[in-house]
Amino acid sequence: MISDKSLSQIVIEQPAAAAVFDMFNLDYCGDGIQTIAEACKGDLAQAGLIAARVDEAVMNGAFLNMNFKVKDLSLSALCSYFVEKHHGTIRSVLPSLLVQAMKVTEKHKIRHPELMEIRDLLVNLKVELDHHMMKEEEMVYPRIKVLEEIVYDEQDGGDFNYRMLKDPIKVLLREHENSVETFRKIKVLSNNFKVPDDACDLYNLFYQNLLAFRTDLRLHVHLENKLLFPKVNALLRVFSDEVI
Ligand SMILES: [Fe+2]
Ligand SMILES: [Fe+2]
Repeated sequence: MISDKSLSQIVIEQPAAAAVFDMFNLDYCGDGIQTIAEACKGDLAQAGLIAARVDEAVMNGAFLNMNFKVKDLSLSALCSYFVEKHHGTIRSVLPSLLVQAMKVTEKHKIRHPELMEIRDLLVNLKVELDHHMMKEEEMVYPRIKVLEEIVYDEQDGGDFNYRMLKDPIKVLLREHENSVETFRKIKVLSNNFKVPDDACDLYNLFYQNLLAFRTDLRLHVHLENKLLFPKVNALLRVFSDEVI
């Protein structure tokens, strides 16, 4: 039953729920331990509405259009999913989002100086995410695949250094928190992504795209933190008590 599960668990089982929770300002990132009803502070009508919207989103495949469950993927398939789906989104969407941020800021910065801060946060975010994705794709994901082969194919793990996986993952976790924090700041600066009355069409489009990008990034971070890394931990426990 969806009503018994935490927000975090619902998103792991049904990633389409992420967009609905973001729309209703329910925070499934971080601990995300509340149920929908708890997050709605006992407003059962609102909780029922949100649960129905989650069902609808899942049925329609409205957000991810996926025909597999991420939680059931092997570690190597999960790493490929992150590269193709979420890293692909960052690489295809963030550059054009930056172009929109520059244009909208130039046009509206006198009356809306907060746009300059949002633009600068996005510029920094792109630098950080490019570096972050490179670390994942060239170092961490390949080592996760090797770990999986050692455990499931019973290959010799003699020269596999487990610390070479654990230490970089600790860095990735800090970087995830930084990117979530960047969007917390953007949410405040943008008045929860609400366009002002004098906004032009491009301003509207920029905030719409920014919101969609935020939803994808939060989901990406959540699935790495709460699905990928715990699965890695479970395999590391085969060899050592010292986990991430
Ligand atoms: Fe990633
Ligand atoms: Fe990541």
